Amino acid sequence: MKLQIFALLTCFCVSRADFSPPVVNISLDVPADQRWAPLKNLYDINFLREAASEVIDTTVPKWVHDAIKPVVRALEKYIPQPYAGEMQGLASIYGSDISDIVLLNFAYEVSAFCTSIVTQDIKGKIYHGRNMDYPHDVLRNLTLDVHFIKNGQVAYRGTTFAGYVGLWTGQSPNKFTVSGNERNKGHWWENVISAILLKRSPVSWLVRKALDEALDFQDAVIGLAKVPIIADVYYIVGGVRPGEGVVITRDRSRSADIWPLDPLNGNWYRVETNYDHWLPPPKGDDRRDVAMKALNATGQNHISMNTLYQVLSVTPVRNRITIYTTVMSAAMPEKYSTFVRDTCRKPGKIRNYLTMLNYVSE
Ligand SMILES: *[C@@H]1O[C@H](CO)[C@@H](O)[C@H](O)[C@H]1NC(C)=O
Ligand SMILES: *[C@@H]1O[C@H](CO)[C@@H](O)[C@H](O)[C@H]1NC(C)=O
Ligand SMILES: *[C@@H]1O[C@H](CO)[C@@H](O)[C@H](O)[C@H]1NC(C)=O
Repeated sequence: MKLQIFALLTCFCVSRADFSPPVVNISLDVPADQRWAPLKNLYDINFLREAASEVIDTTVPKWVHDAIKPVVRALEKYIPQPYAGEMQGLASIYGSDISDIVLLNFAYEVSAFCTSIVTQDIKGKIYHGRNMDYPHDVLRNLTLDVHFIKNGQVAYRGTTFAGYVGLWTGQSPNKFTVSGNERNKGHWWENVISAILLKRSPVSWLVRKALDEALDFQDAVIGLAKVPIIADVYYIVGGVRPGEGVVITRDRSRSADIWPLDPLNGNWYRVETNYDHWLPPPKGDDRRDVAMKALNATGQNHISMNTLYQVLSVTPVRNRITIYTTVMSAAMPEKYSTFVRDTCRKPGKIRNYLTMLNYVSE
């Protein structure tokens, strides 16, 4: 009886709270500084502005924010297209200074914790899933699925946050899917300026570049492995053919390691959280083994978009700061789906409620 009540409460909580984010078409045929205009129809501008300052203020130390502003404004001329134009357009939508938008975009470069999984089923189909974890609740309401349109067709798509021109999650239809996970936080903002002066790419811009330009899985992996970037990162890539799945561990200047699927030897999945796969995860954050256990329990003969989503829903793979879960498969581009996760944000209250029920039933 007690168990039933518990299950009921849990289901109720989960199903009520998860939702699909809005979908927006952004045309790459429109000049960069105008293409994000559709955001105006989706969001209240005051909300966007407040959310932006919350993200900036909680990510960039206040003194850095003040000190860096004039420098960021000067940097604008070093930022490559189309990002410079797109950020200019966003500044005019937000009614704010370009330096705020640049700062917002660099603040988003620091994503906290993530889990990405690439798998292959027994028929050779590739599935790719990711959780995006980030300690700002406000991002649940900024999560957005974007279709980037070229010549009236979806050239590629991705999941991002309103105001952010980079991508951490995306799909080039019938070619590949890609996700990025943070590696080594470091003092990222100290590196931003020199990085841009050295013409290195933010990690999320390289994802977008791959989606925009890469011809296939192989081509994407080569680009993601070797173009210099401003921070260490893990790139997880899934293709359309058997064996096309890989975790790329990146240093700033090159790849440190390439870890492909190896289905012939029983390695039908790769799990990447935020630690090098050849080292044990820290004791306090073992999402990796929990995900592997869930994948082992699922089995290669039962892996699918659905079961992958379930693996990504197991605690603590999915946790209090999980903002969204995306599951995708480049060979079935229309199946791309993102769910904004709302963990029951008042666990204290729920526990009290359960205690009360227990008390009543005793
Ligand atoms: C997100 O939007 C929902 C519904 O519009 C609202 O109830 C909630 O307070 C918002 N959350 C945040 C963190 O802004
Ligand atoms: C986005 O563009 C595609 C391709 O032109 C079209 O089929 C679709 O209806 C558009 N969706 C939205 C939400 O405008
Ligand atoms: C998952 O299964 C593999 C292969 O049988 C095994 O080597 C690994 O230890 C298992 N991992 C977990 C966490 O259960």
